[in-house]
Amino acid sequence: MTDFAITGCHGQLGRALVLQARARGLAVSAHDVDTLDIRSEAAVEAWITAERPSVVMNCAAYTAVDAAEHDEAAAHAVNATAVGILAKASAAVDARLVHVSTDYVFDGSAAEPYRESDPTCPTSAYGRSKLAGEREAARCDRHLIVRTAWLYGIGGRNFVEAIRRQILSGRERLRVVADQRGCPTFCDDLAGSILDLVDADAQGVVHAVNVGETTWHGFATAIVRGLGASTPVDPVGTEEFPTPARRPAYSVLATDRLHRLIGRRLPPWEDALNRYLERT
Ligand SMILES: NC(=O)c1ccc[n+]([C@@H]2O[C@H](COP(=O)([O-])OP(=O)(O)OC[C@H]3O[C@@H](n4cnc5c(N)ncnc54)[C@H](OP(=O)(O)O)[C@@H]3O)[C@@H](O)[C@H]2O)c1
Repeated sequence: MTDFAITGCHGQLGRALVLQARARGLAVSAHDVDTLDIRSEAAVEAWITAERPSVVMNCAAYTAVDAAEHDEAAAHAVNATAVGILAKASAAVDARLVHVSTDYVFDGSAAEPYRESDPTCPTSAYGRSKLAGEREAARCDRHLIVRTAWLYGIGGRNFVEAIRRQILSGRERLRVVADQRGCPTFCDDLAGSILDLVDADAQGVVHAVNVGETTWHGFATAIVRGLGASTPVDPVGTEEFPTPARRPAYSVLATDRLHRLIGRRLPPWEDALNRYLERT
């Protein structure tokens, strides 16, 4: 009997969830796109029907935010249509569907942390595909949608590693955007909170991010310091760093609902970053 069926298990969050679920003694069946493409209805149905898990946890996603602007259909296929396939297959075996979403469903015009009930309005193709995915996930009656942000995890491609690469390559100065605010979040902390949310039988939408907020510039400065480097980090405006996708200027997520459900928030982002750097 499988407790958790996990997709996207080679991704940064998927890896952390597989490890932590197994450490809690749960029976896990895990796949990534090389062995199970979630866009294939037949493959998903066969897997879920054979495993009959109590929880289906979707960590698979199209996460190339800028590339999605040029191929929204590809993002939609993985982030929305395939989530509908998972929702249908989960409902058929009475499993709970846990789906992971993003702060990029918001437009960033708020001045205080976004709550789960705040209106969504994505500004990018990626954000639109993830919002459509939330709606698909909700087709499974027993669903939990965990919105998170600015993820970095062990073995992943992420902002911390991008900064580390630049330092190792000998860059004399870094230029990093200082007018986008959000919540850097360590996948290990997020994975633990998702497992606790499942234990608490949480339903609906829940925001889960490390406590505190910063800009990409603030995050980069903390990474440089944490790596023991002294490379100066110059703050720049978004307009100086044009990207195909428009990102929200402010996407801090409120975690009061998480606190009510599991009795705690995630640790501060600075503490999480230090733990990540100690292990990488
Ligand atoms: N990264 C962030 O900053 C961030 C922020 C907010 C929310 N999120 C959400 O958090 C979740 C986890 O993100 P992450 O950073 O762990 O992502 P990730 O590291 O990119 O992992 C996603 C995994 O899904 C796989 N995948 C892609 N298409 C698939 C398909 N058709 N079938 C099966 N697997 C497929 C990817 O394989 P390939 O690598 O081979 O494509 C990858 O291994 C996602 O839902 C993401 O949208 C992420």
